[in-house]
Parts: sequence; C-alpha cells; structure tokens
Amino acid sequence: MIKLMYLAAIAVIGLACAFTRHHKPSEPLQRSTSVMKHPNQDVLIKRGQYLVTIMGCGDCHSPKKMTPQGPAPDMDRFLSGYNSAVPLGTYDKNLVKTGQWVMFNGQNTAFAGPWGVSFAANLTPDATGIGSWSFEQFTRAMRQGKFKGLDNTRPLLPPMPWPGYAVMTDDDMQAVFTYLKSLKPISNVVPAAIPPAP
Ligand code: HEC
Repeated sequence: MIKLMYLAAIAVIGLACAFTRHHKPSEPLQRSTSVMKHPNQDVLIKRGQYLVTIMGCGDCHSPKKMTPQGPAPDMDRFLSGYNSAVPLGTYDKNLVKTGQWVMFNGQNTAFAGPWGVSFAANLTPDATGIGSWSFEQFTRAMRQGKFKGLDNTRPLLPPMPWPGYAVMTDDDMQAVFTYLKSLKPISNVVPAAIPPAP
C-alpha cells in the first residue's frame, strides 16, 4: 500500500517531467533543472496550486466533507491537516502491528500502521502550521523527509510520500511553498505522532 503510494507519487512526477526530458521507466528519476524564467508571485501561486492539486496533497492534508459525489476536501479547513477537535476513535491495534494491513481514518488524515499513528500536518501559513517555516525548512522536509524541516528531527512517517517529491525541481518546490504560504491560515495543532503499541 505504502509502496503503491510512493509509486503513484513518482508516476505523477514522472508525467510532469515527460515533456521536459526523455526518461526510461527503469531508471530512477533524477531531479531535472529549472525551467521557469523570472517567475513572479502570481505565476508561482498558480503553478503551486496546479502542483498541489495534481500531487494530491489535499487527499491527506485536508479534512473531508461529505458531498453528493462522495467525500471531498472541506474548503473551510483546506490543507489544515488532521482536525484536532475531532476524537481519533478506536481501532484494532493487532490488525496493524504486523504490517499486513494499514488503516486510514474516514477523513484520510490519520494513519495507523506498524509505525504507530501519524497525523497529516497543517500546511496553512498559521503559527500552528508552516507560518514560521523558511523555504529551507520546507525543502528539507520535502527532499530529506525531516520532521519540521529541521536538521536533528525524526524522519517523516508514512504515508507522507516525500521520496517521490524529493525529485521536484527547485522552481516547483518554490511554487508549492509560495502557494501554501498564500492560503488562508487555519489554527489547528495537529497531535504528535503516536508510537507503535508494544
Ligand atoms: C498519502 C498521504 C499524504 C500525501 C498525499 C501528502 N502528505 Fe504530507 N504528510 C502526510 C503525513 C501523514 C504527514 C505527517 C508525517 C509525520 O508526522 O511524520 C505529512 C507531513 C508533511 C510535512 C511535514 C510537516 C511537519 O510538521 O514536519 C510536509 C511539509 C508535508 N507533509 C507536505 C506535503 C505536500 C506539500 C504534499 C503534496 C505535494 C503532501 N504533503 C502530500 C501525508 C501525506
């Protein structure tokens, strides 16, 4: 499941790169060079919105609302992560311990597996989200999978598919970051990850 998600993320990025470089499917993707010439703020925000949409950040980082078409991102809480006001609920810890199964909550914002329970982060520019984050922090989180994008922190837990995002161009990284920083700030302290049950 996790592997599938990594593959899906890589496939999406592969598609985005298909027009800029020739790529044999058997070779791992390398980060390609920048293509944008002198992008201004509006161009970056538009490009960032496009990338965040096709890379499906909201699938995990937005709480969902039921619509006639099924669950959809709740735009009032867009990209604000696991809603800490909603109780986690119970689940069968034995089912996830072996790694044969992982479980996603109904909002697709909390994830139980052999790693314990991870909670999708608040990506809005609030103080409880990425409000104080520098671009360097964001890049370190996305390319090296470091919690809070800091040097001496734990690795990011599944199912955050950062190894696929690691090969993003610097321009695209900047676009995603600029777009996220332009969002409505939402105050929501996402709970700390829960370690695996003994
Ligand atoms: C399949 C689900 C999933 C998708 C898709 C996803 N994320 Fe995540 N993301 C997570 C989870 C879960 C965490 C929390 C991991 C942890 O606590 O270790 C996380 C953590 C993060 C963090 C680190 C936050 C922190 O406080 O350290 C950043 C930054 C982030 N995601 C950005 C993104 C962006 C940008 C996208 C889209 C390009 C994205 N994520 C797509 C599940 C996902």
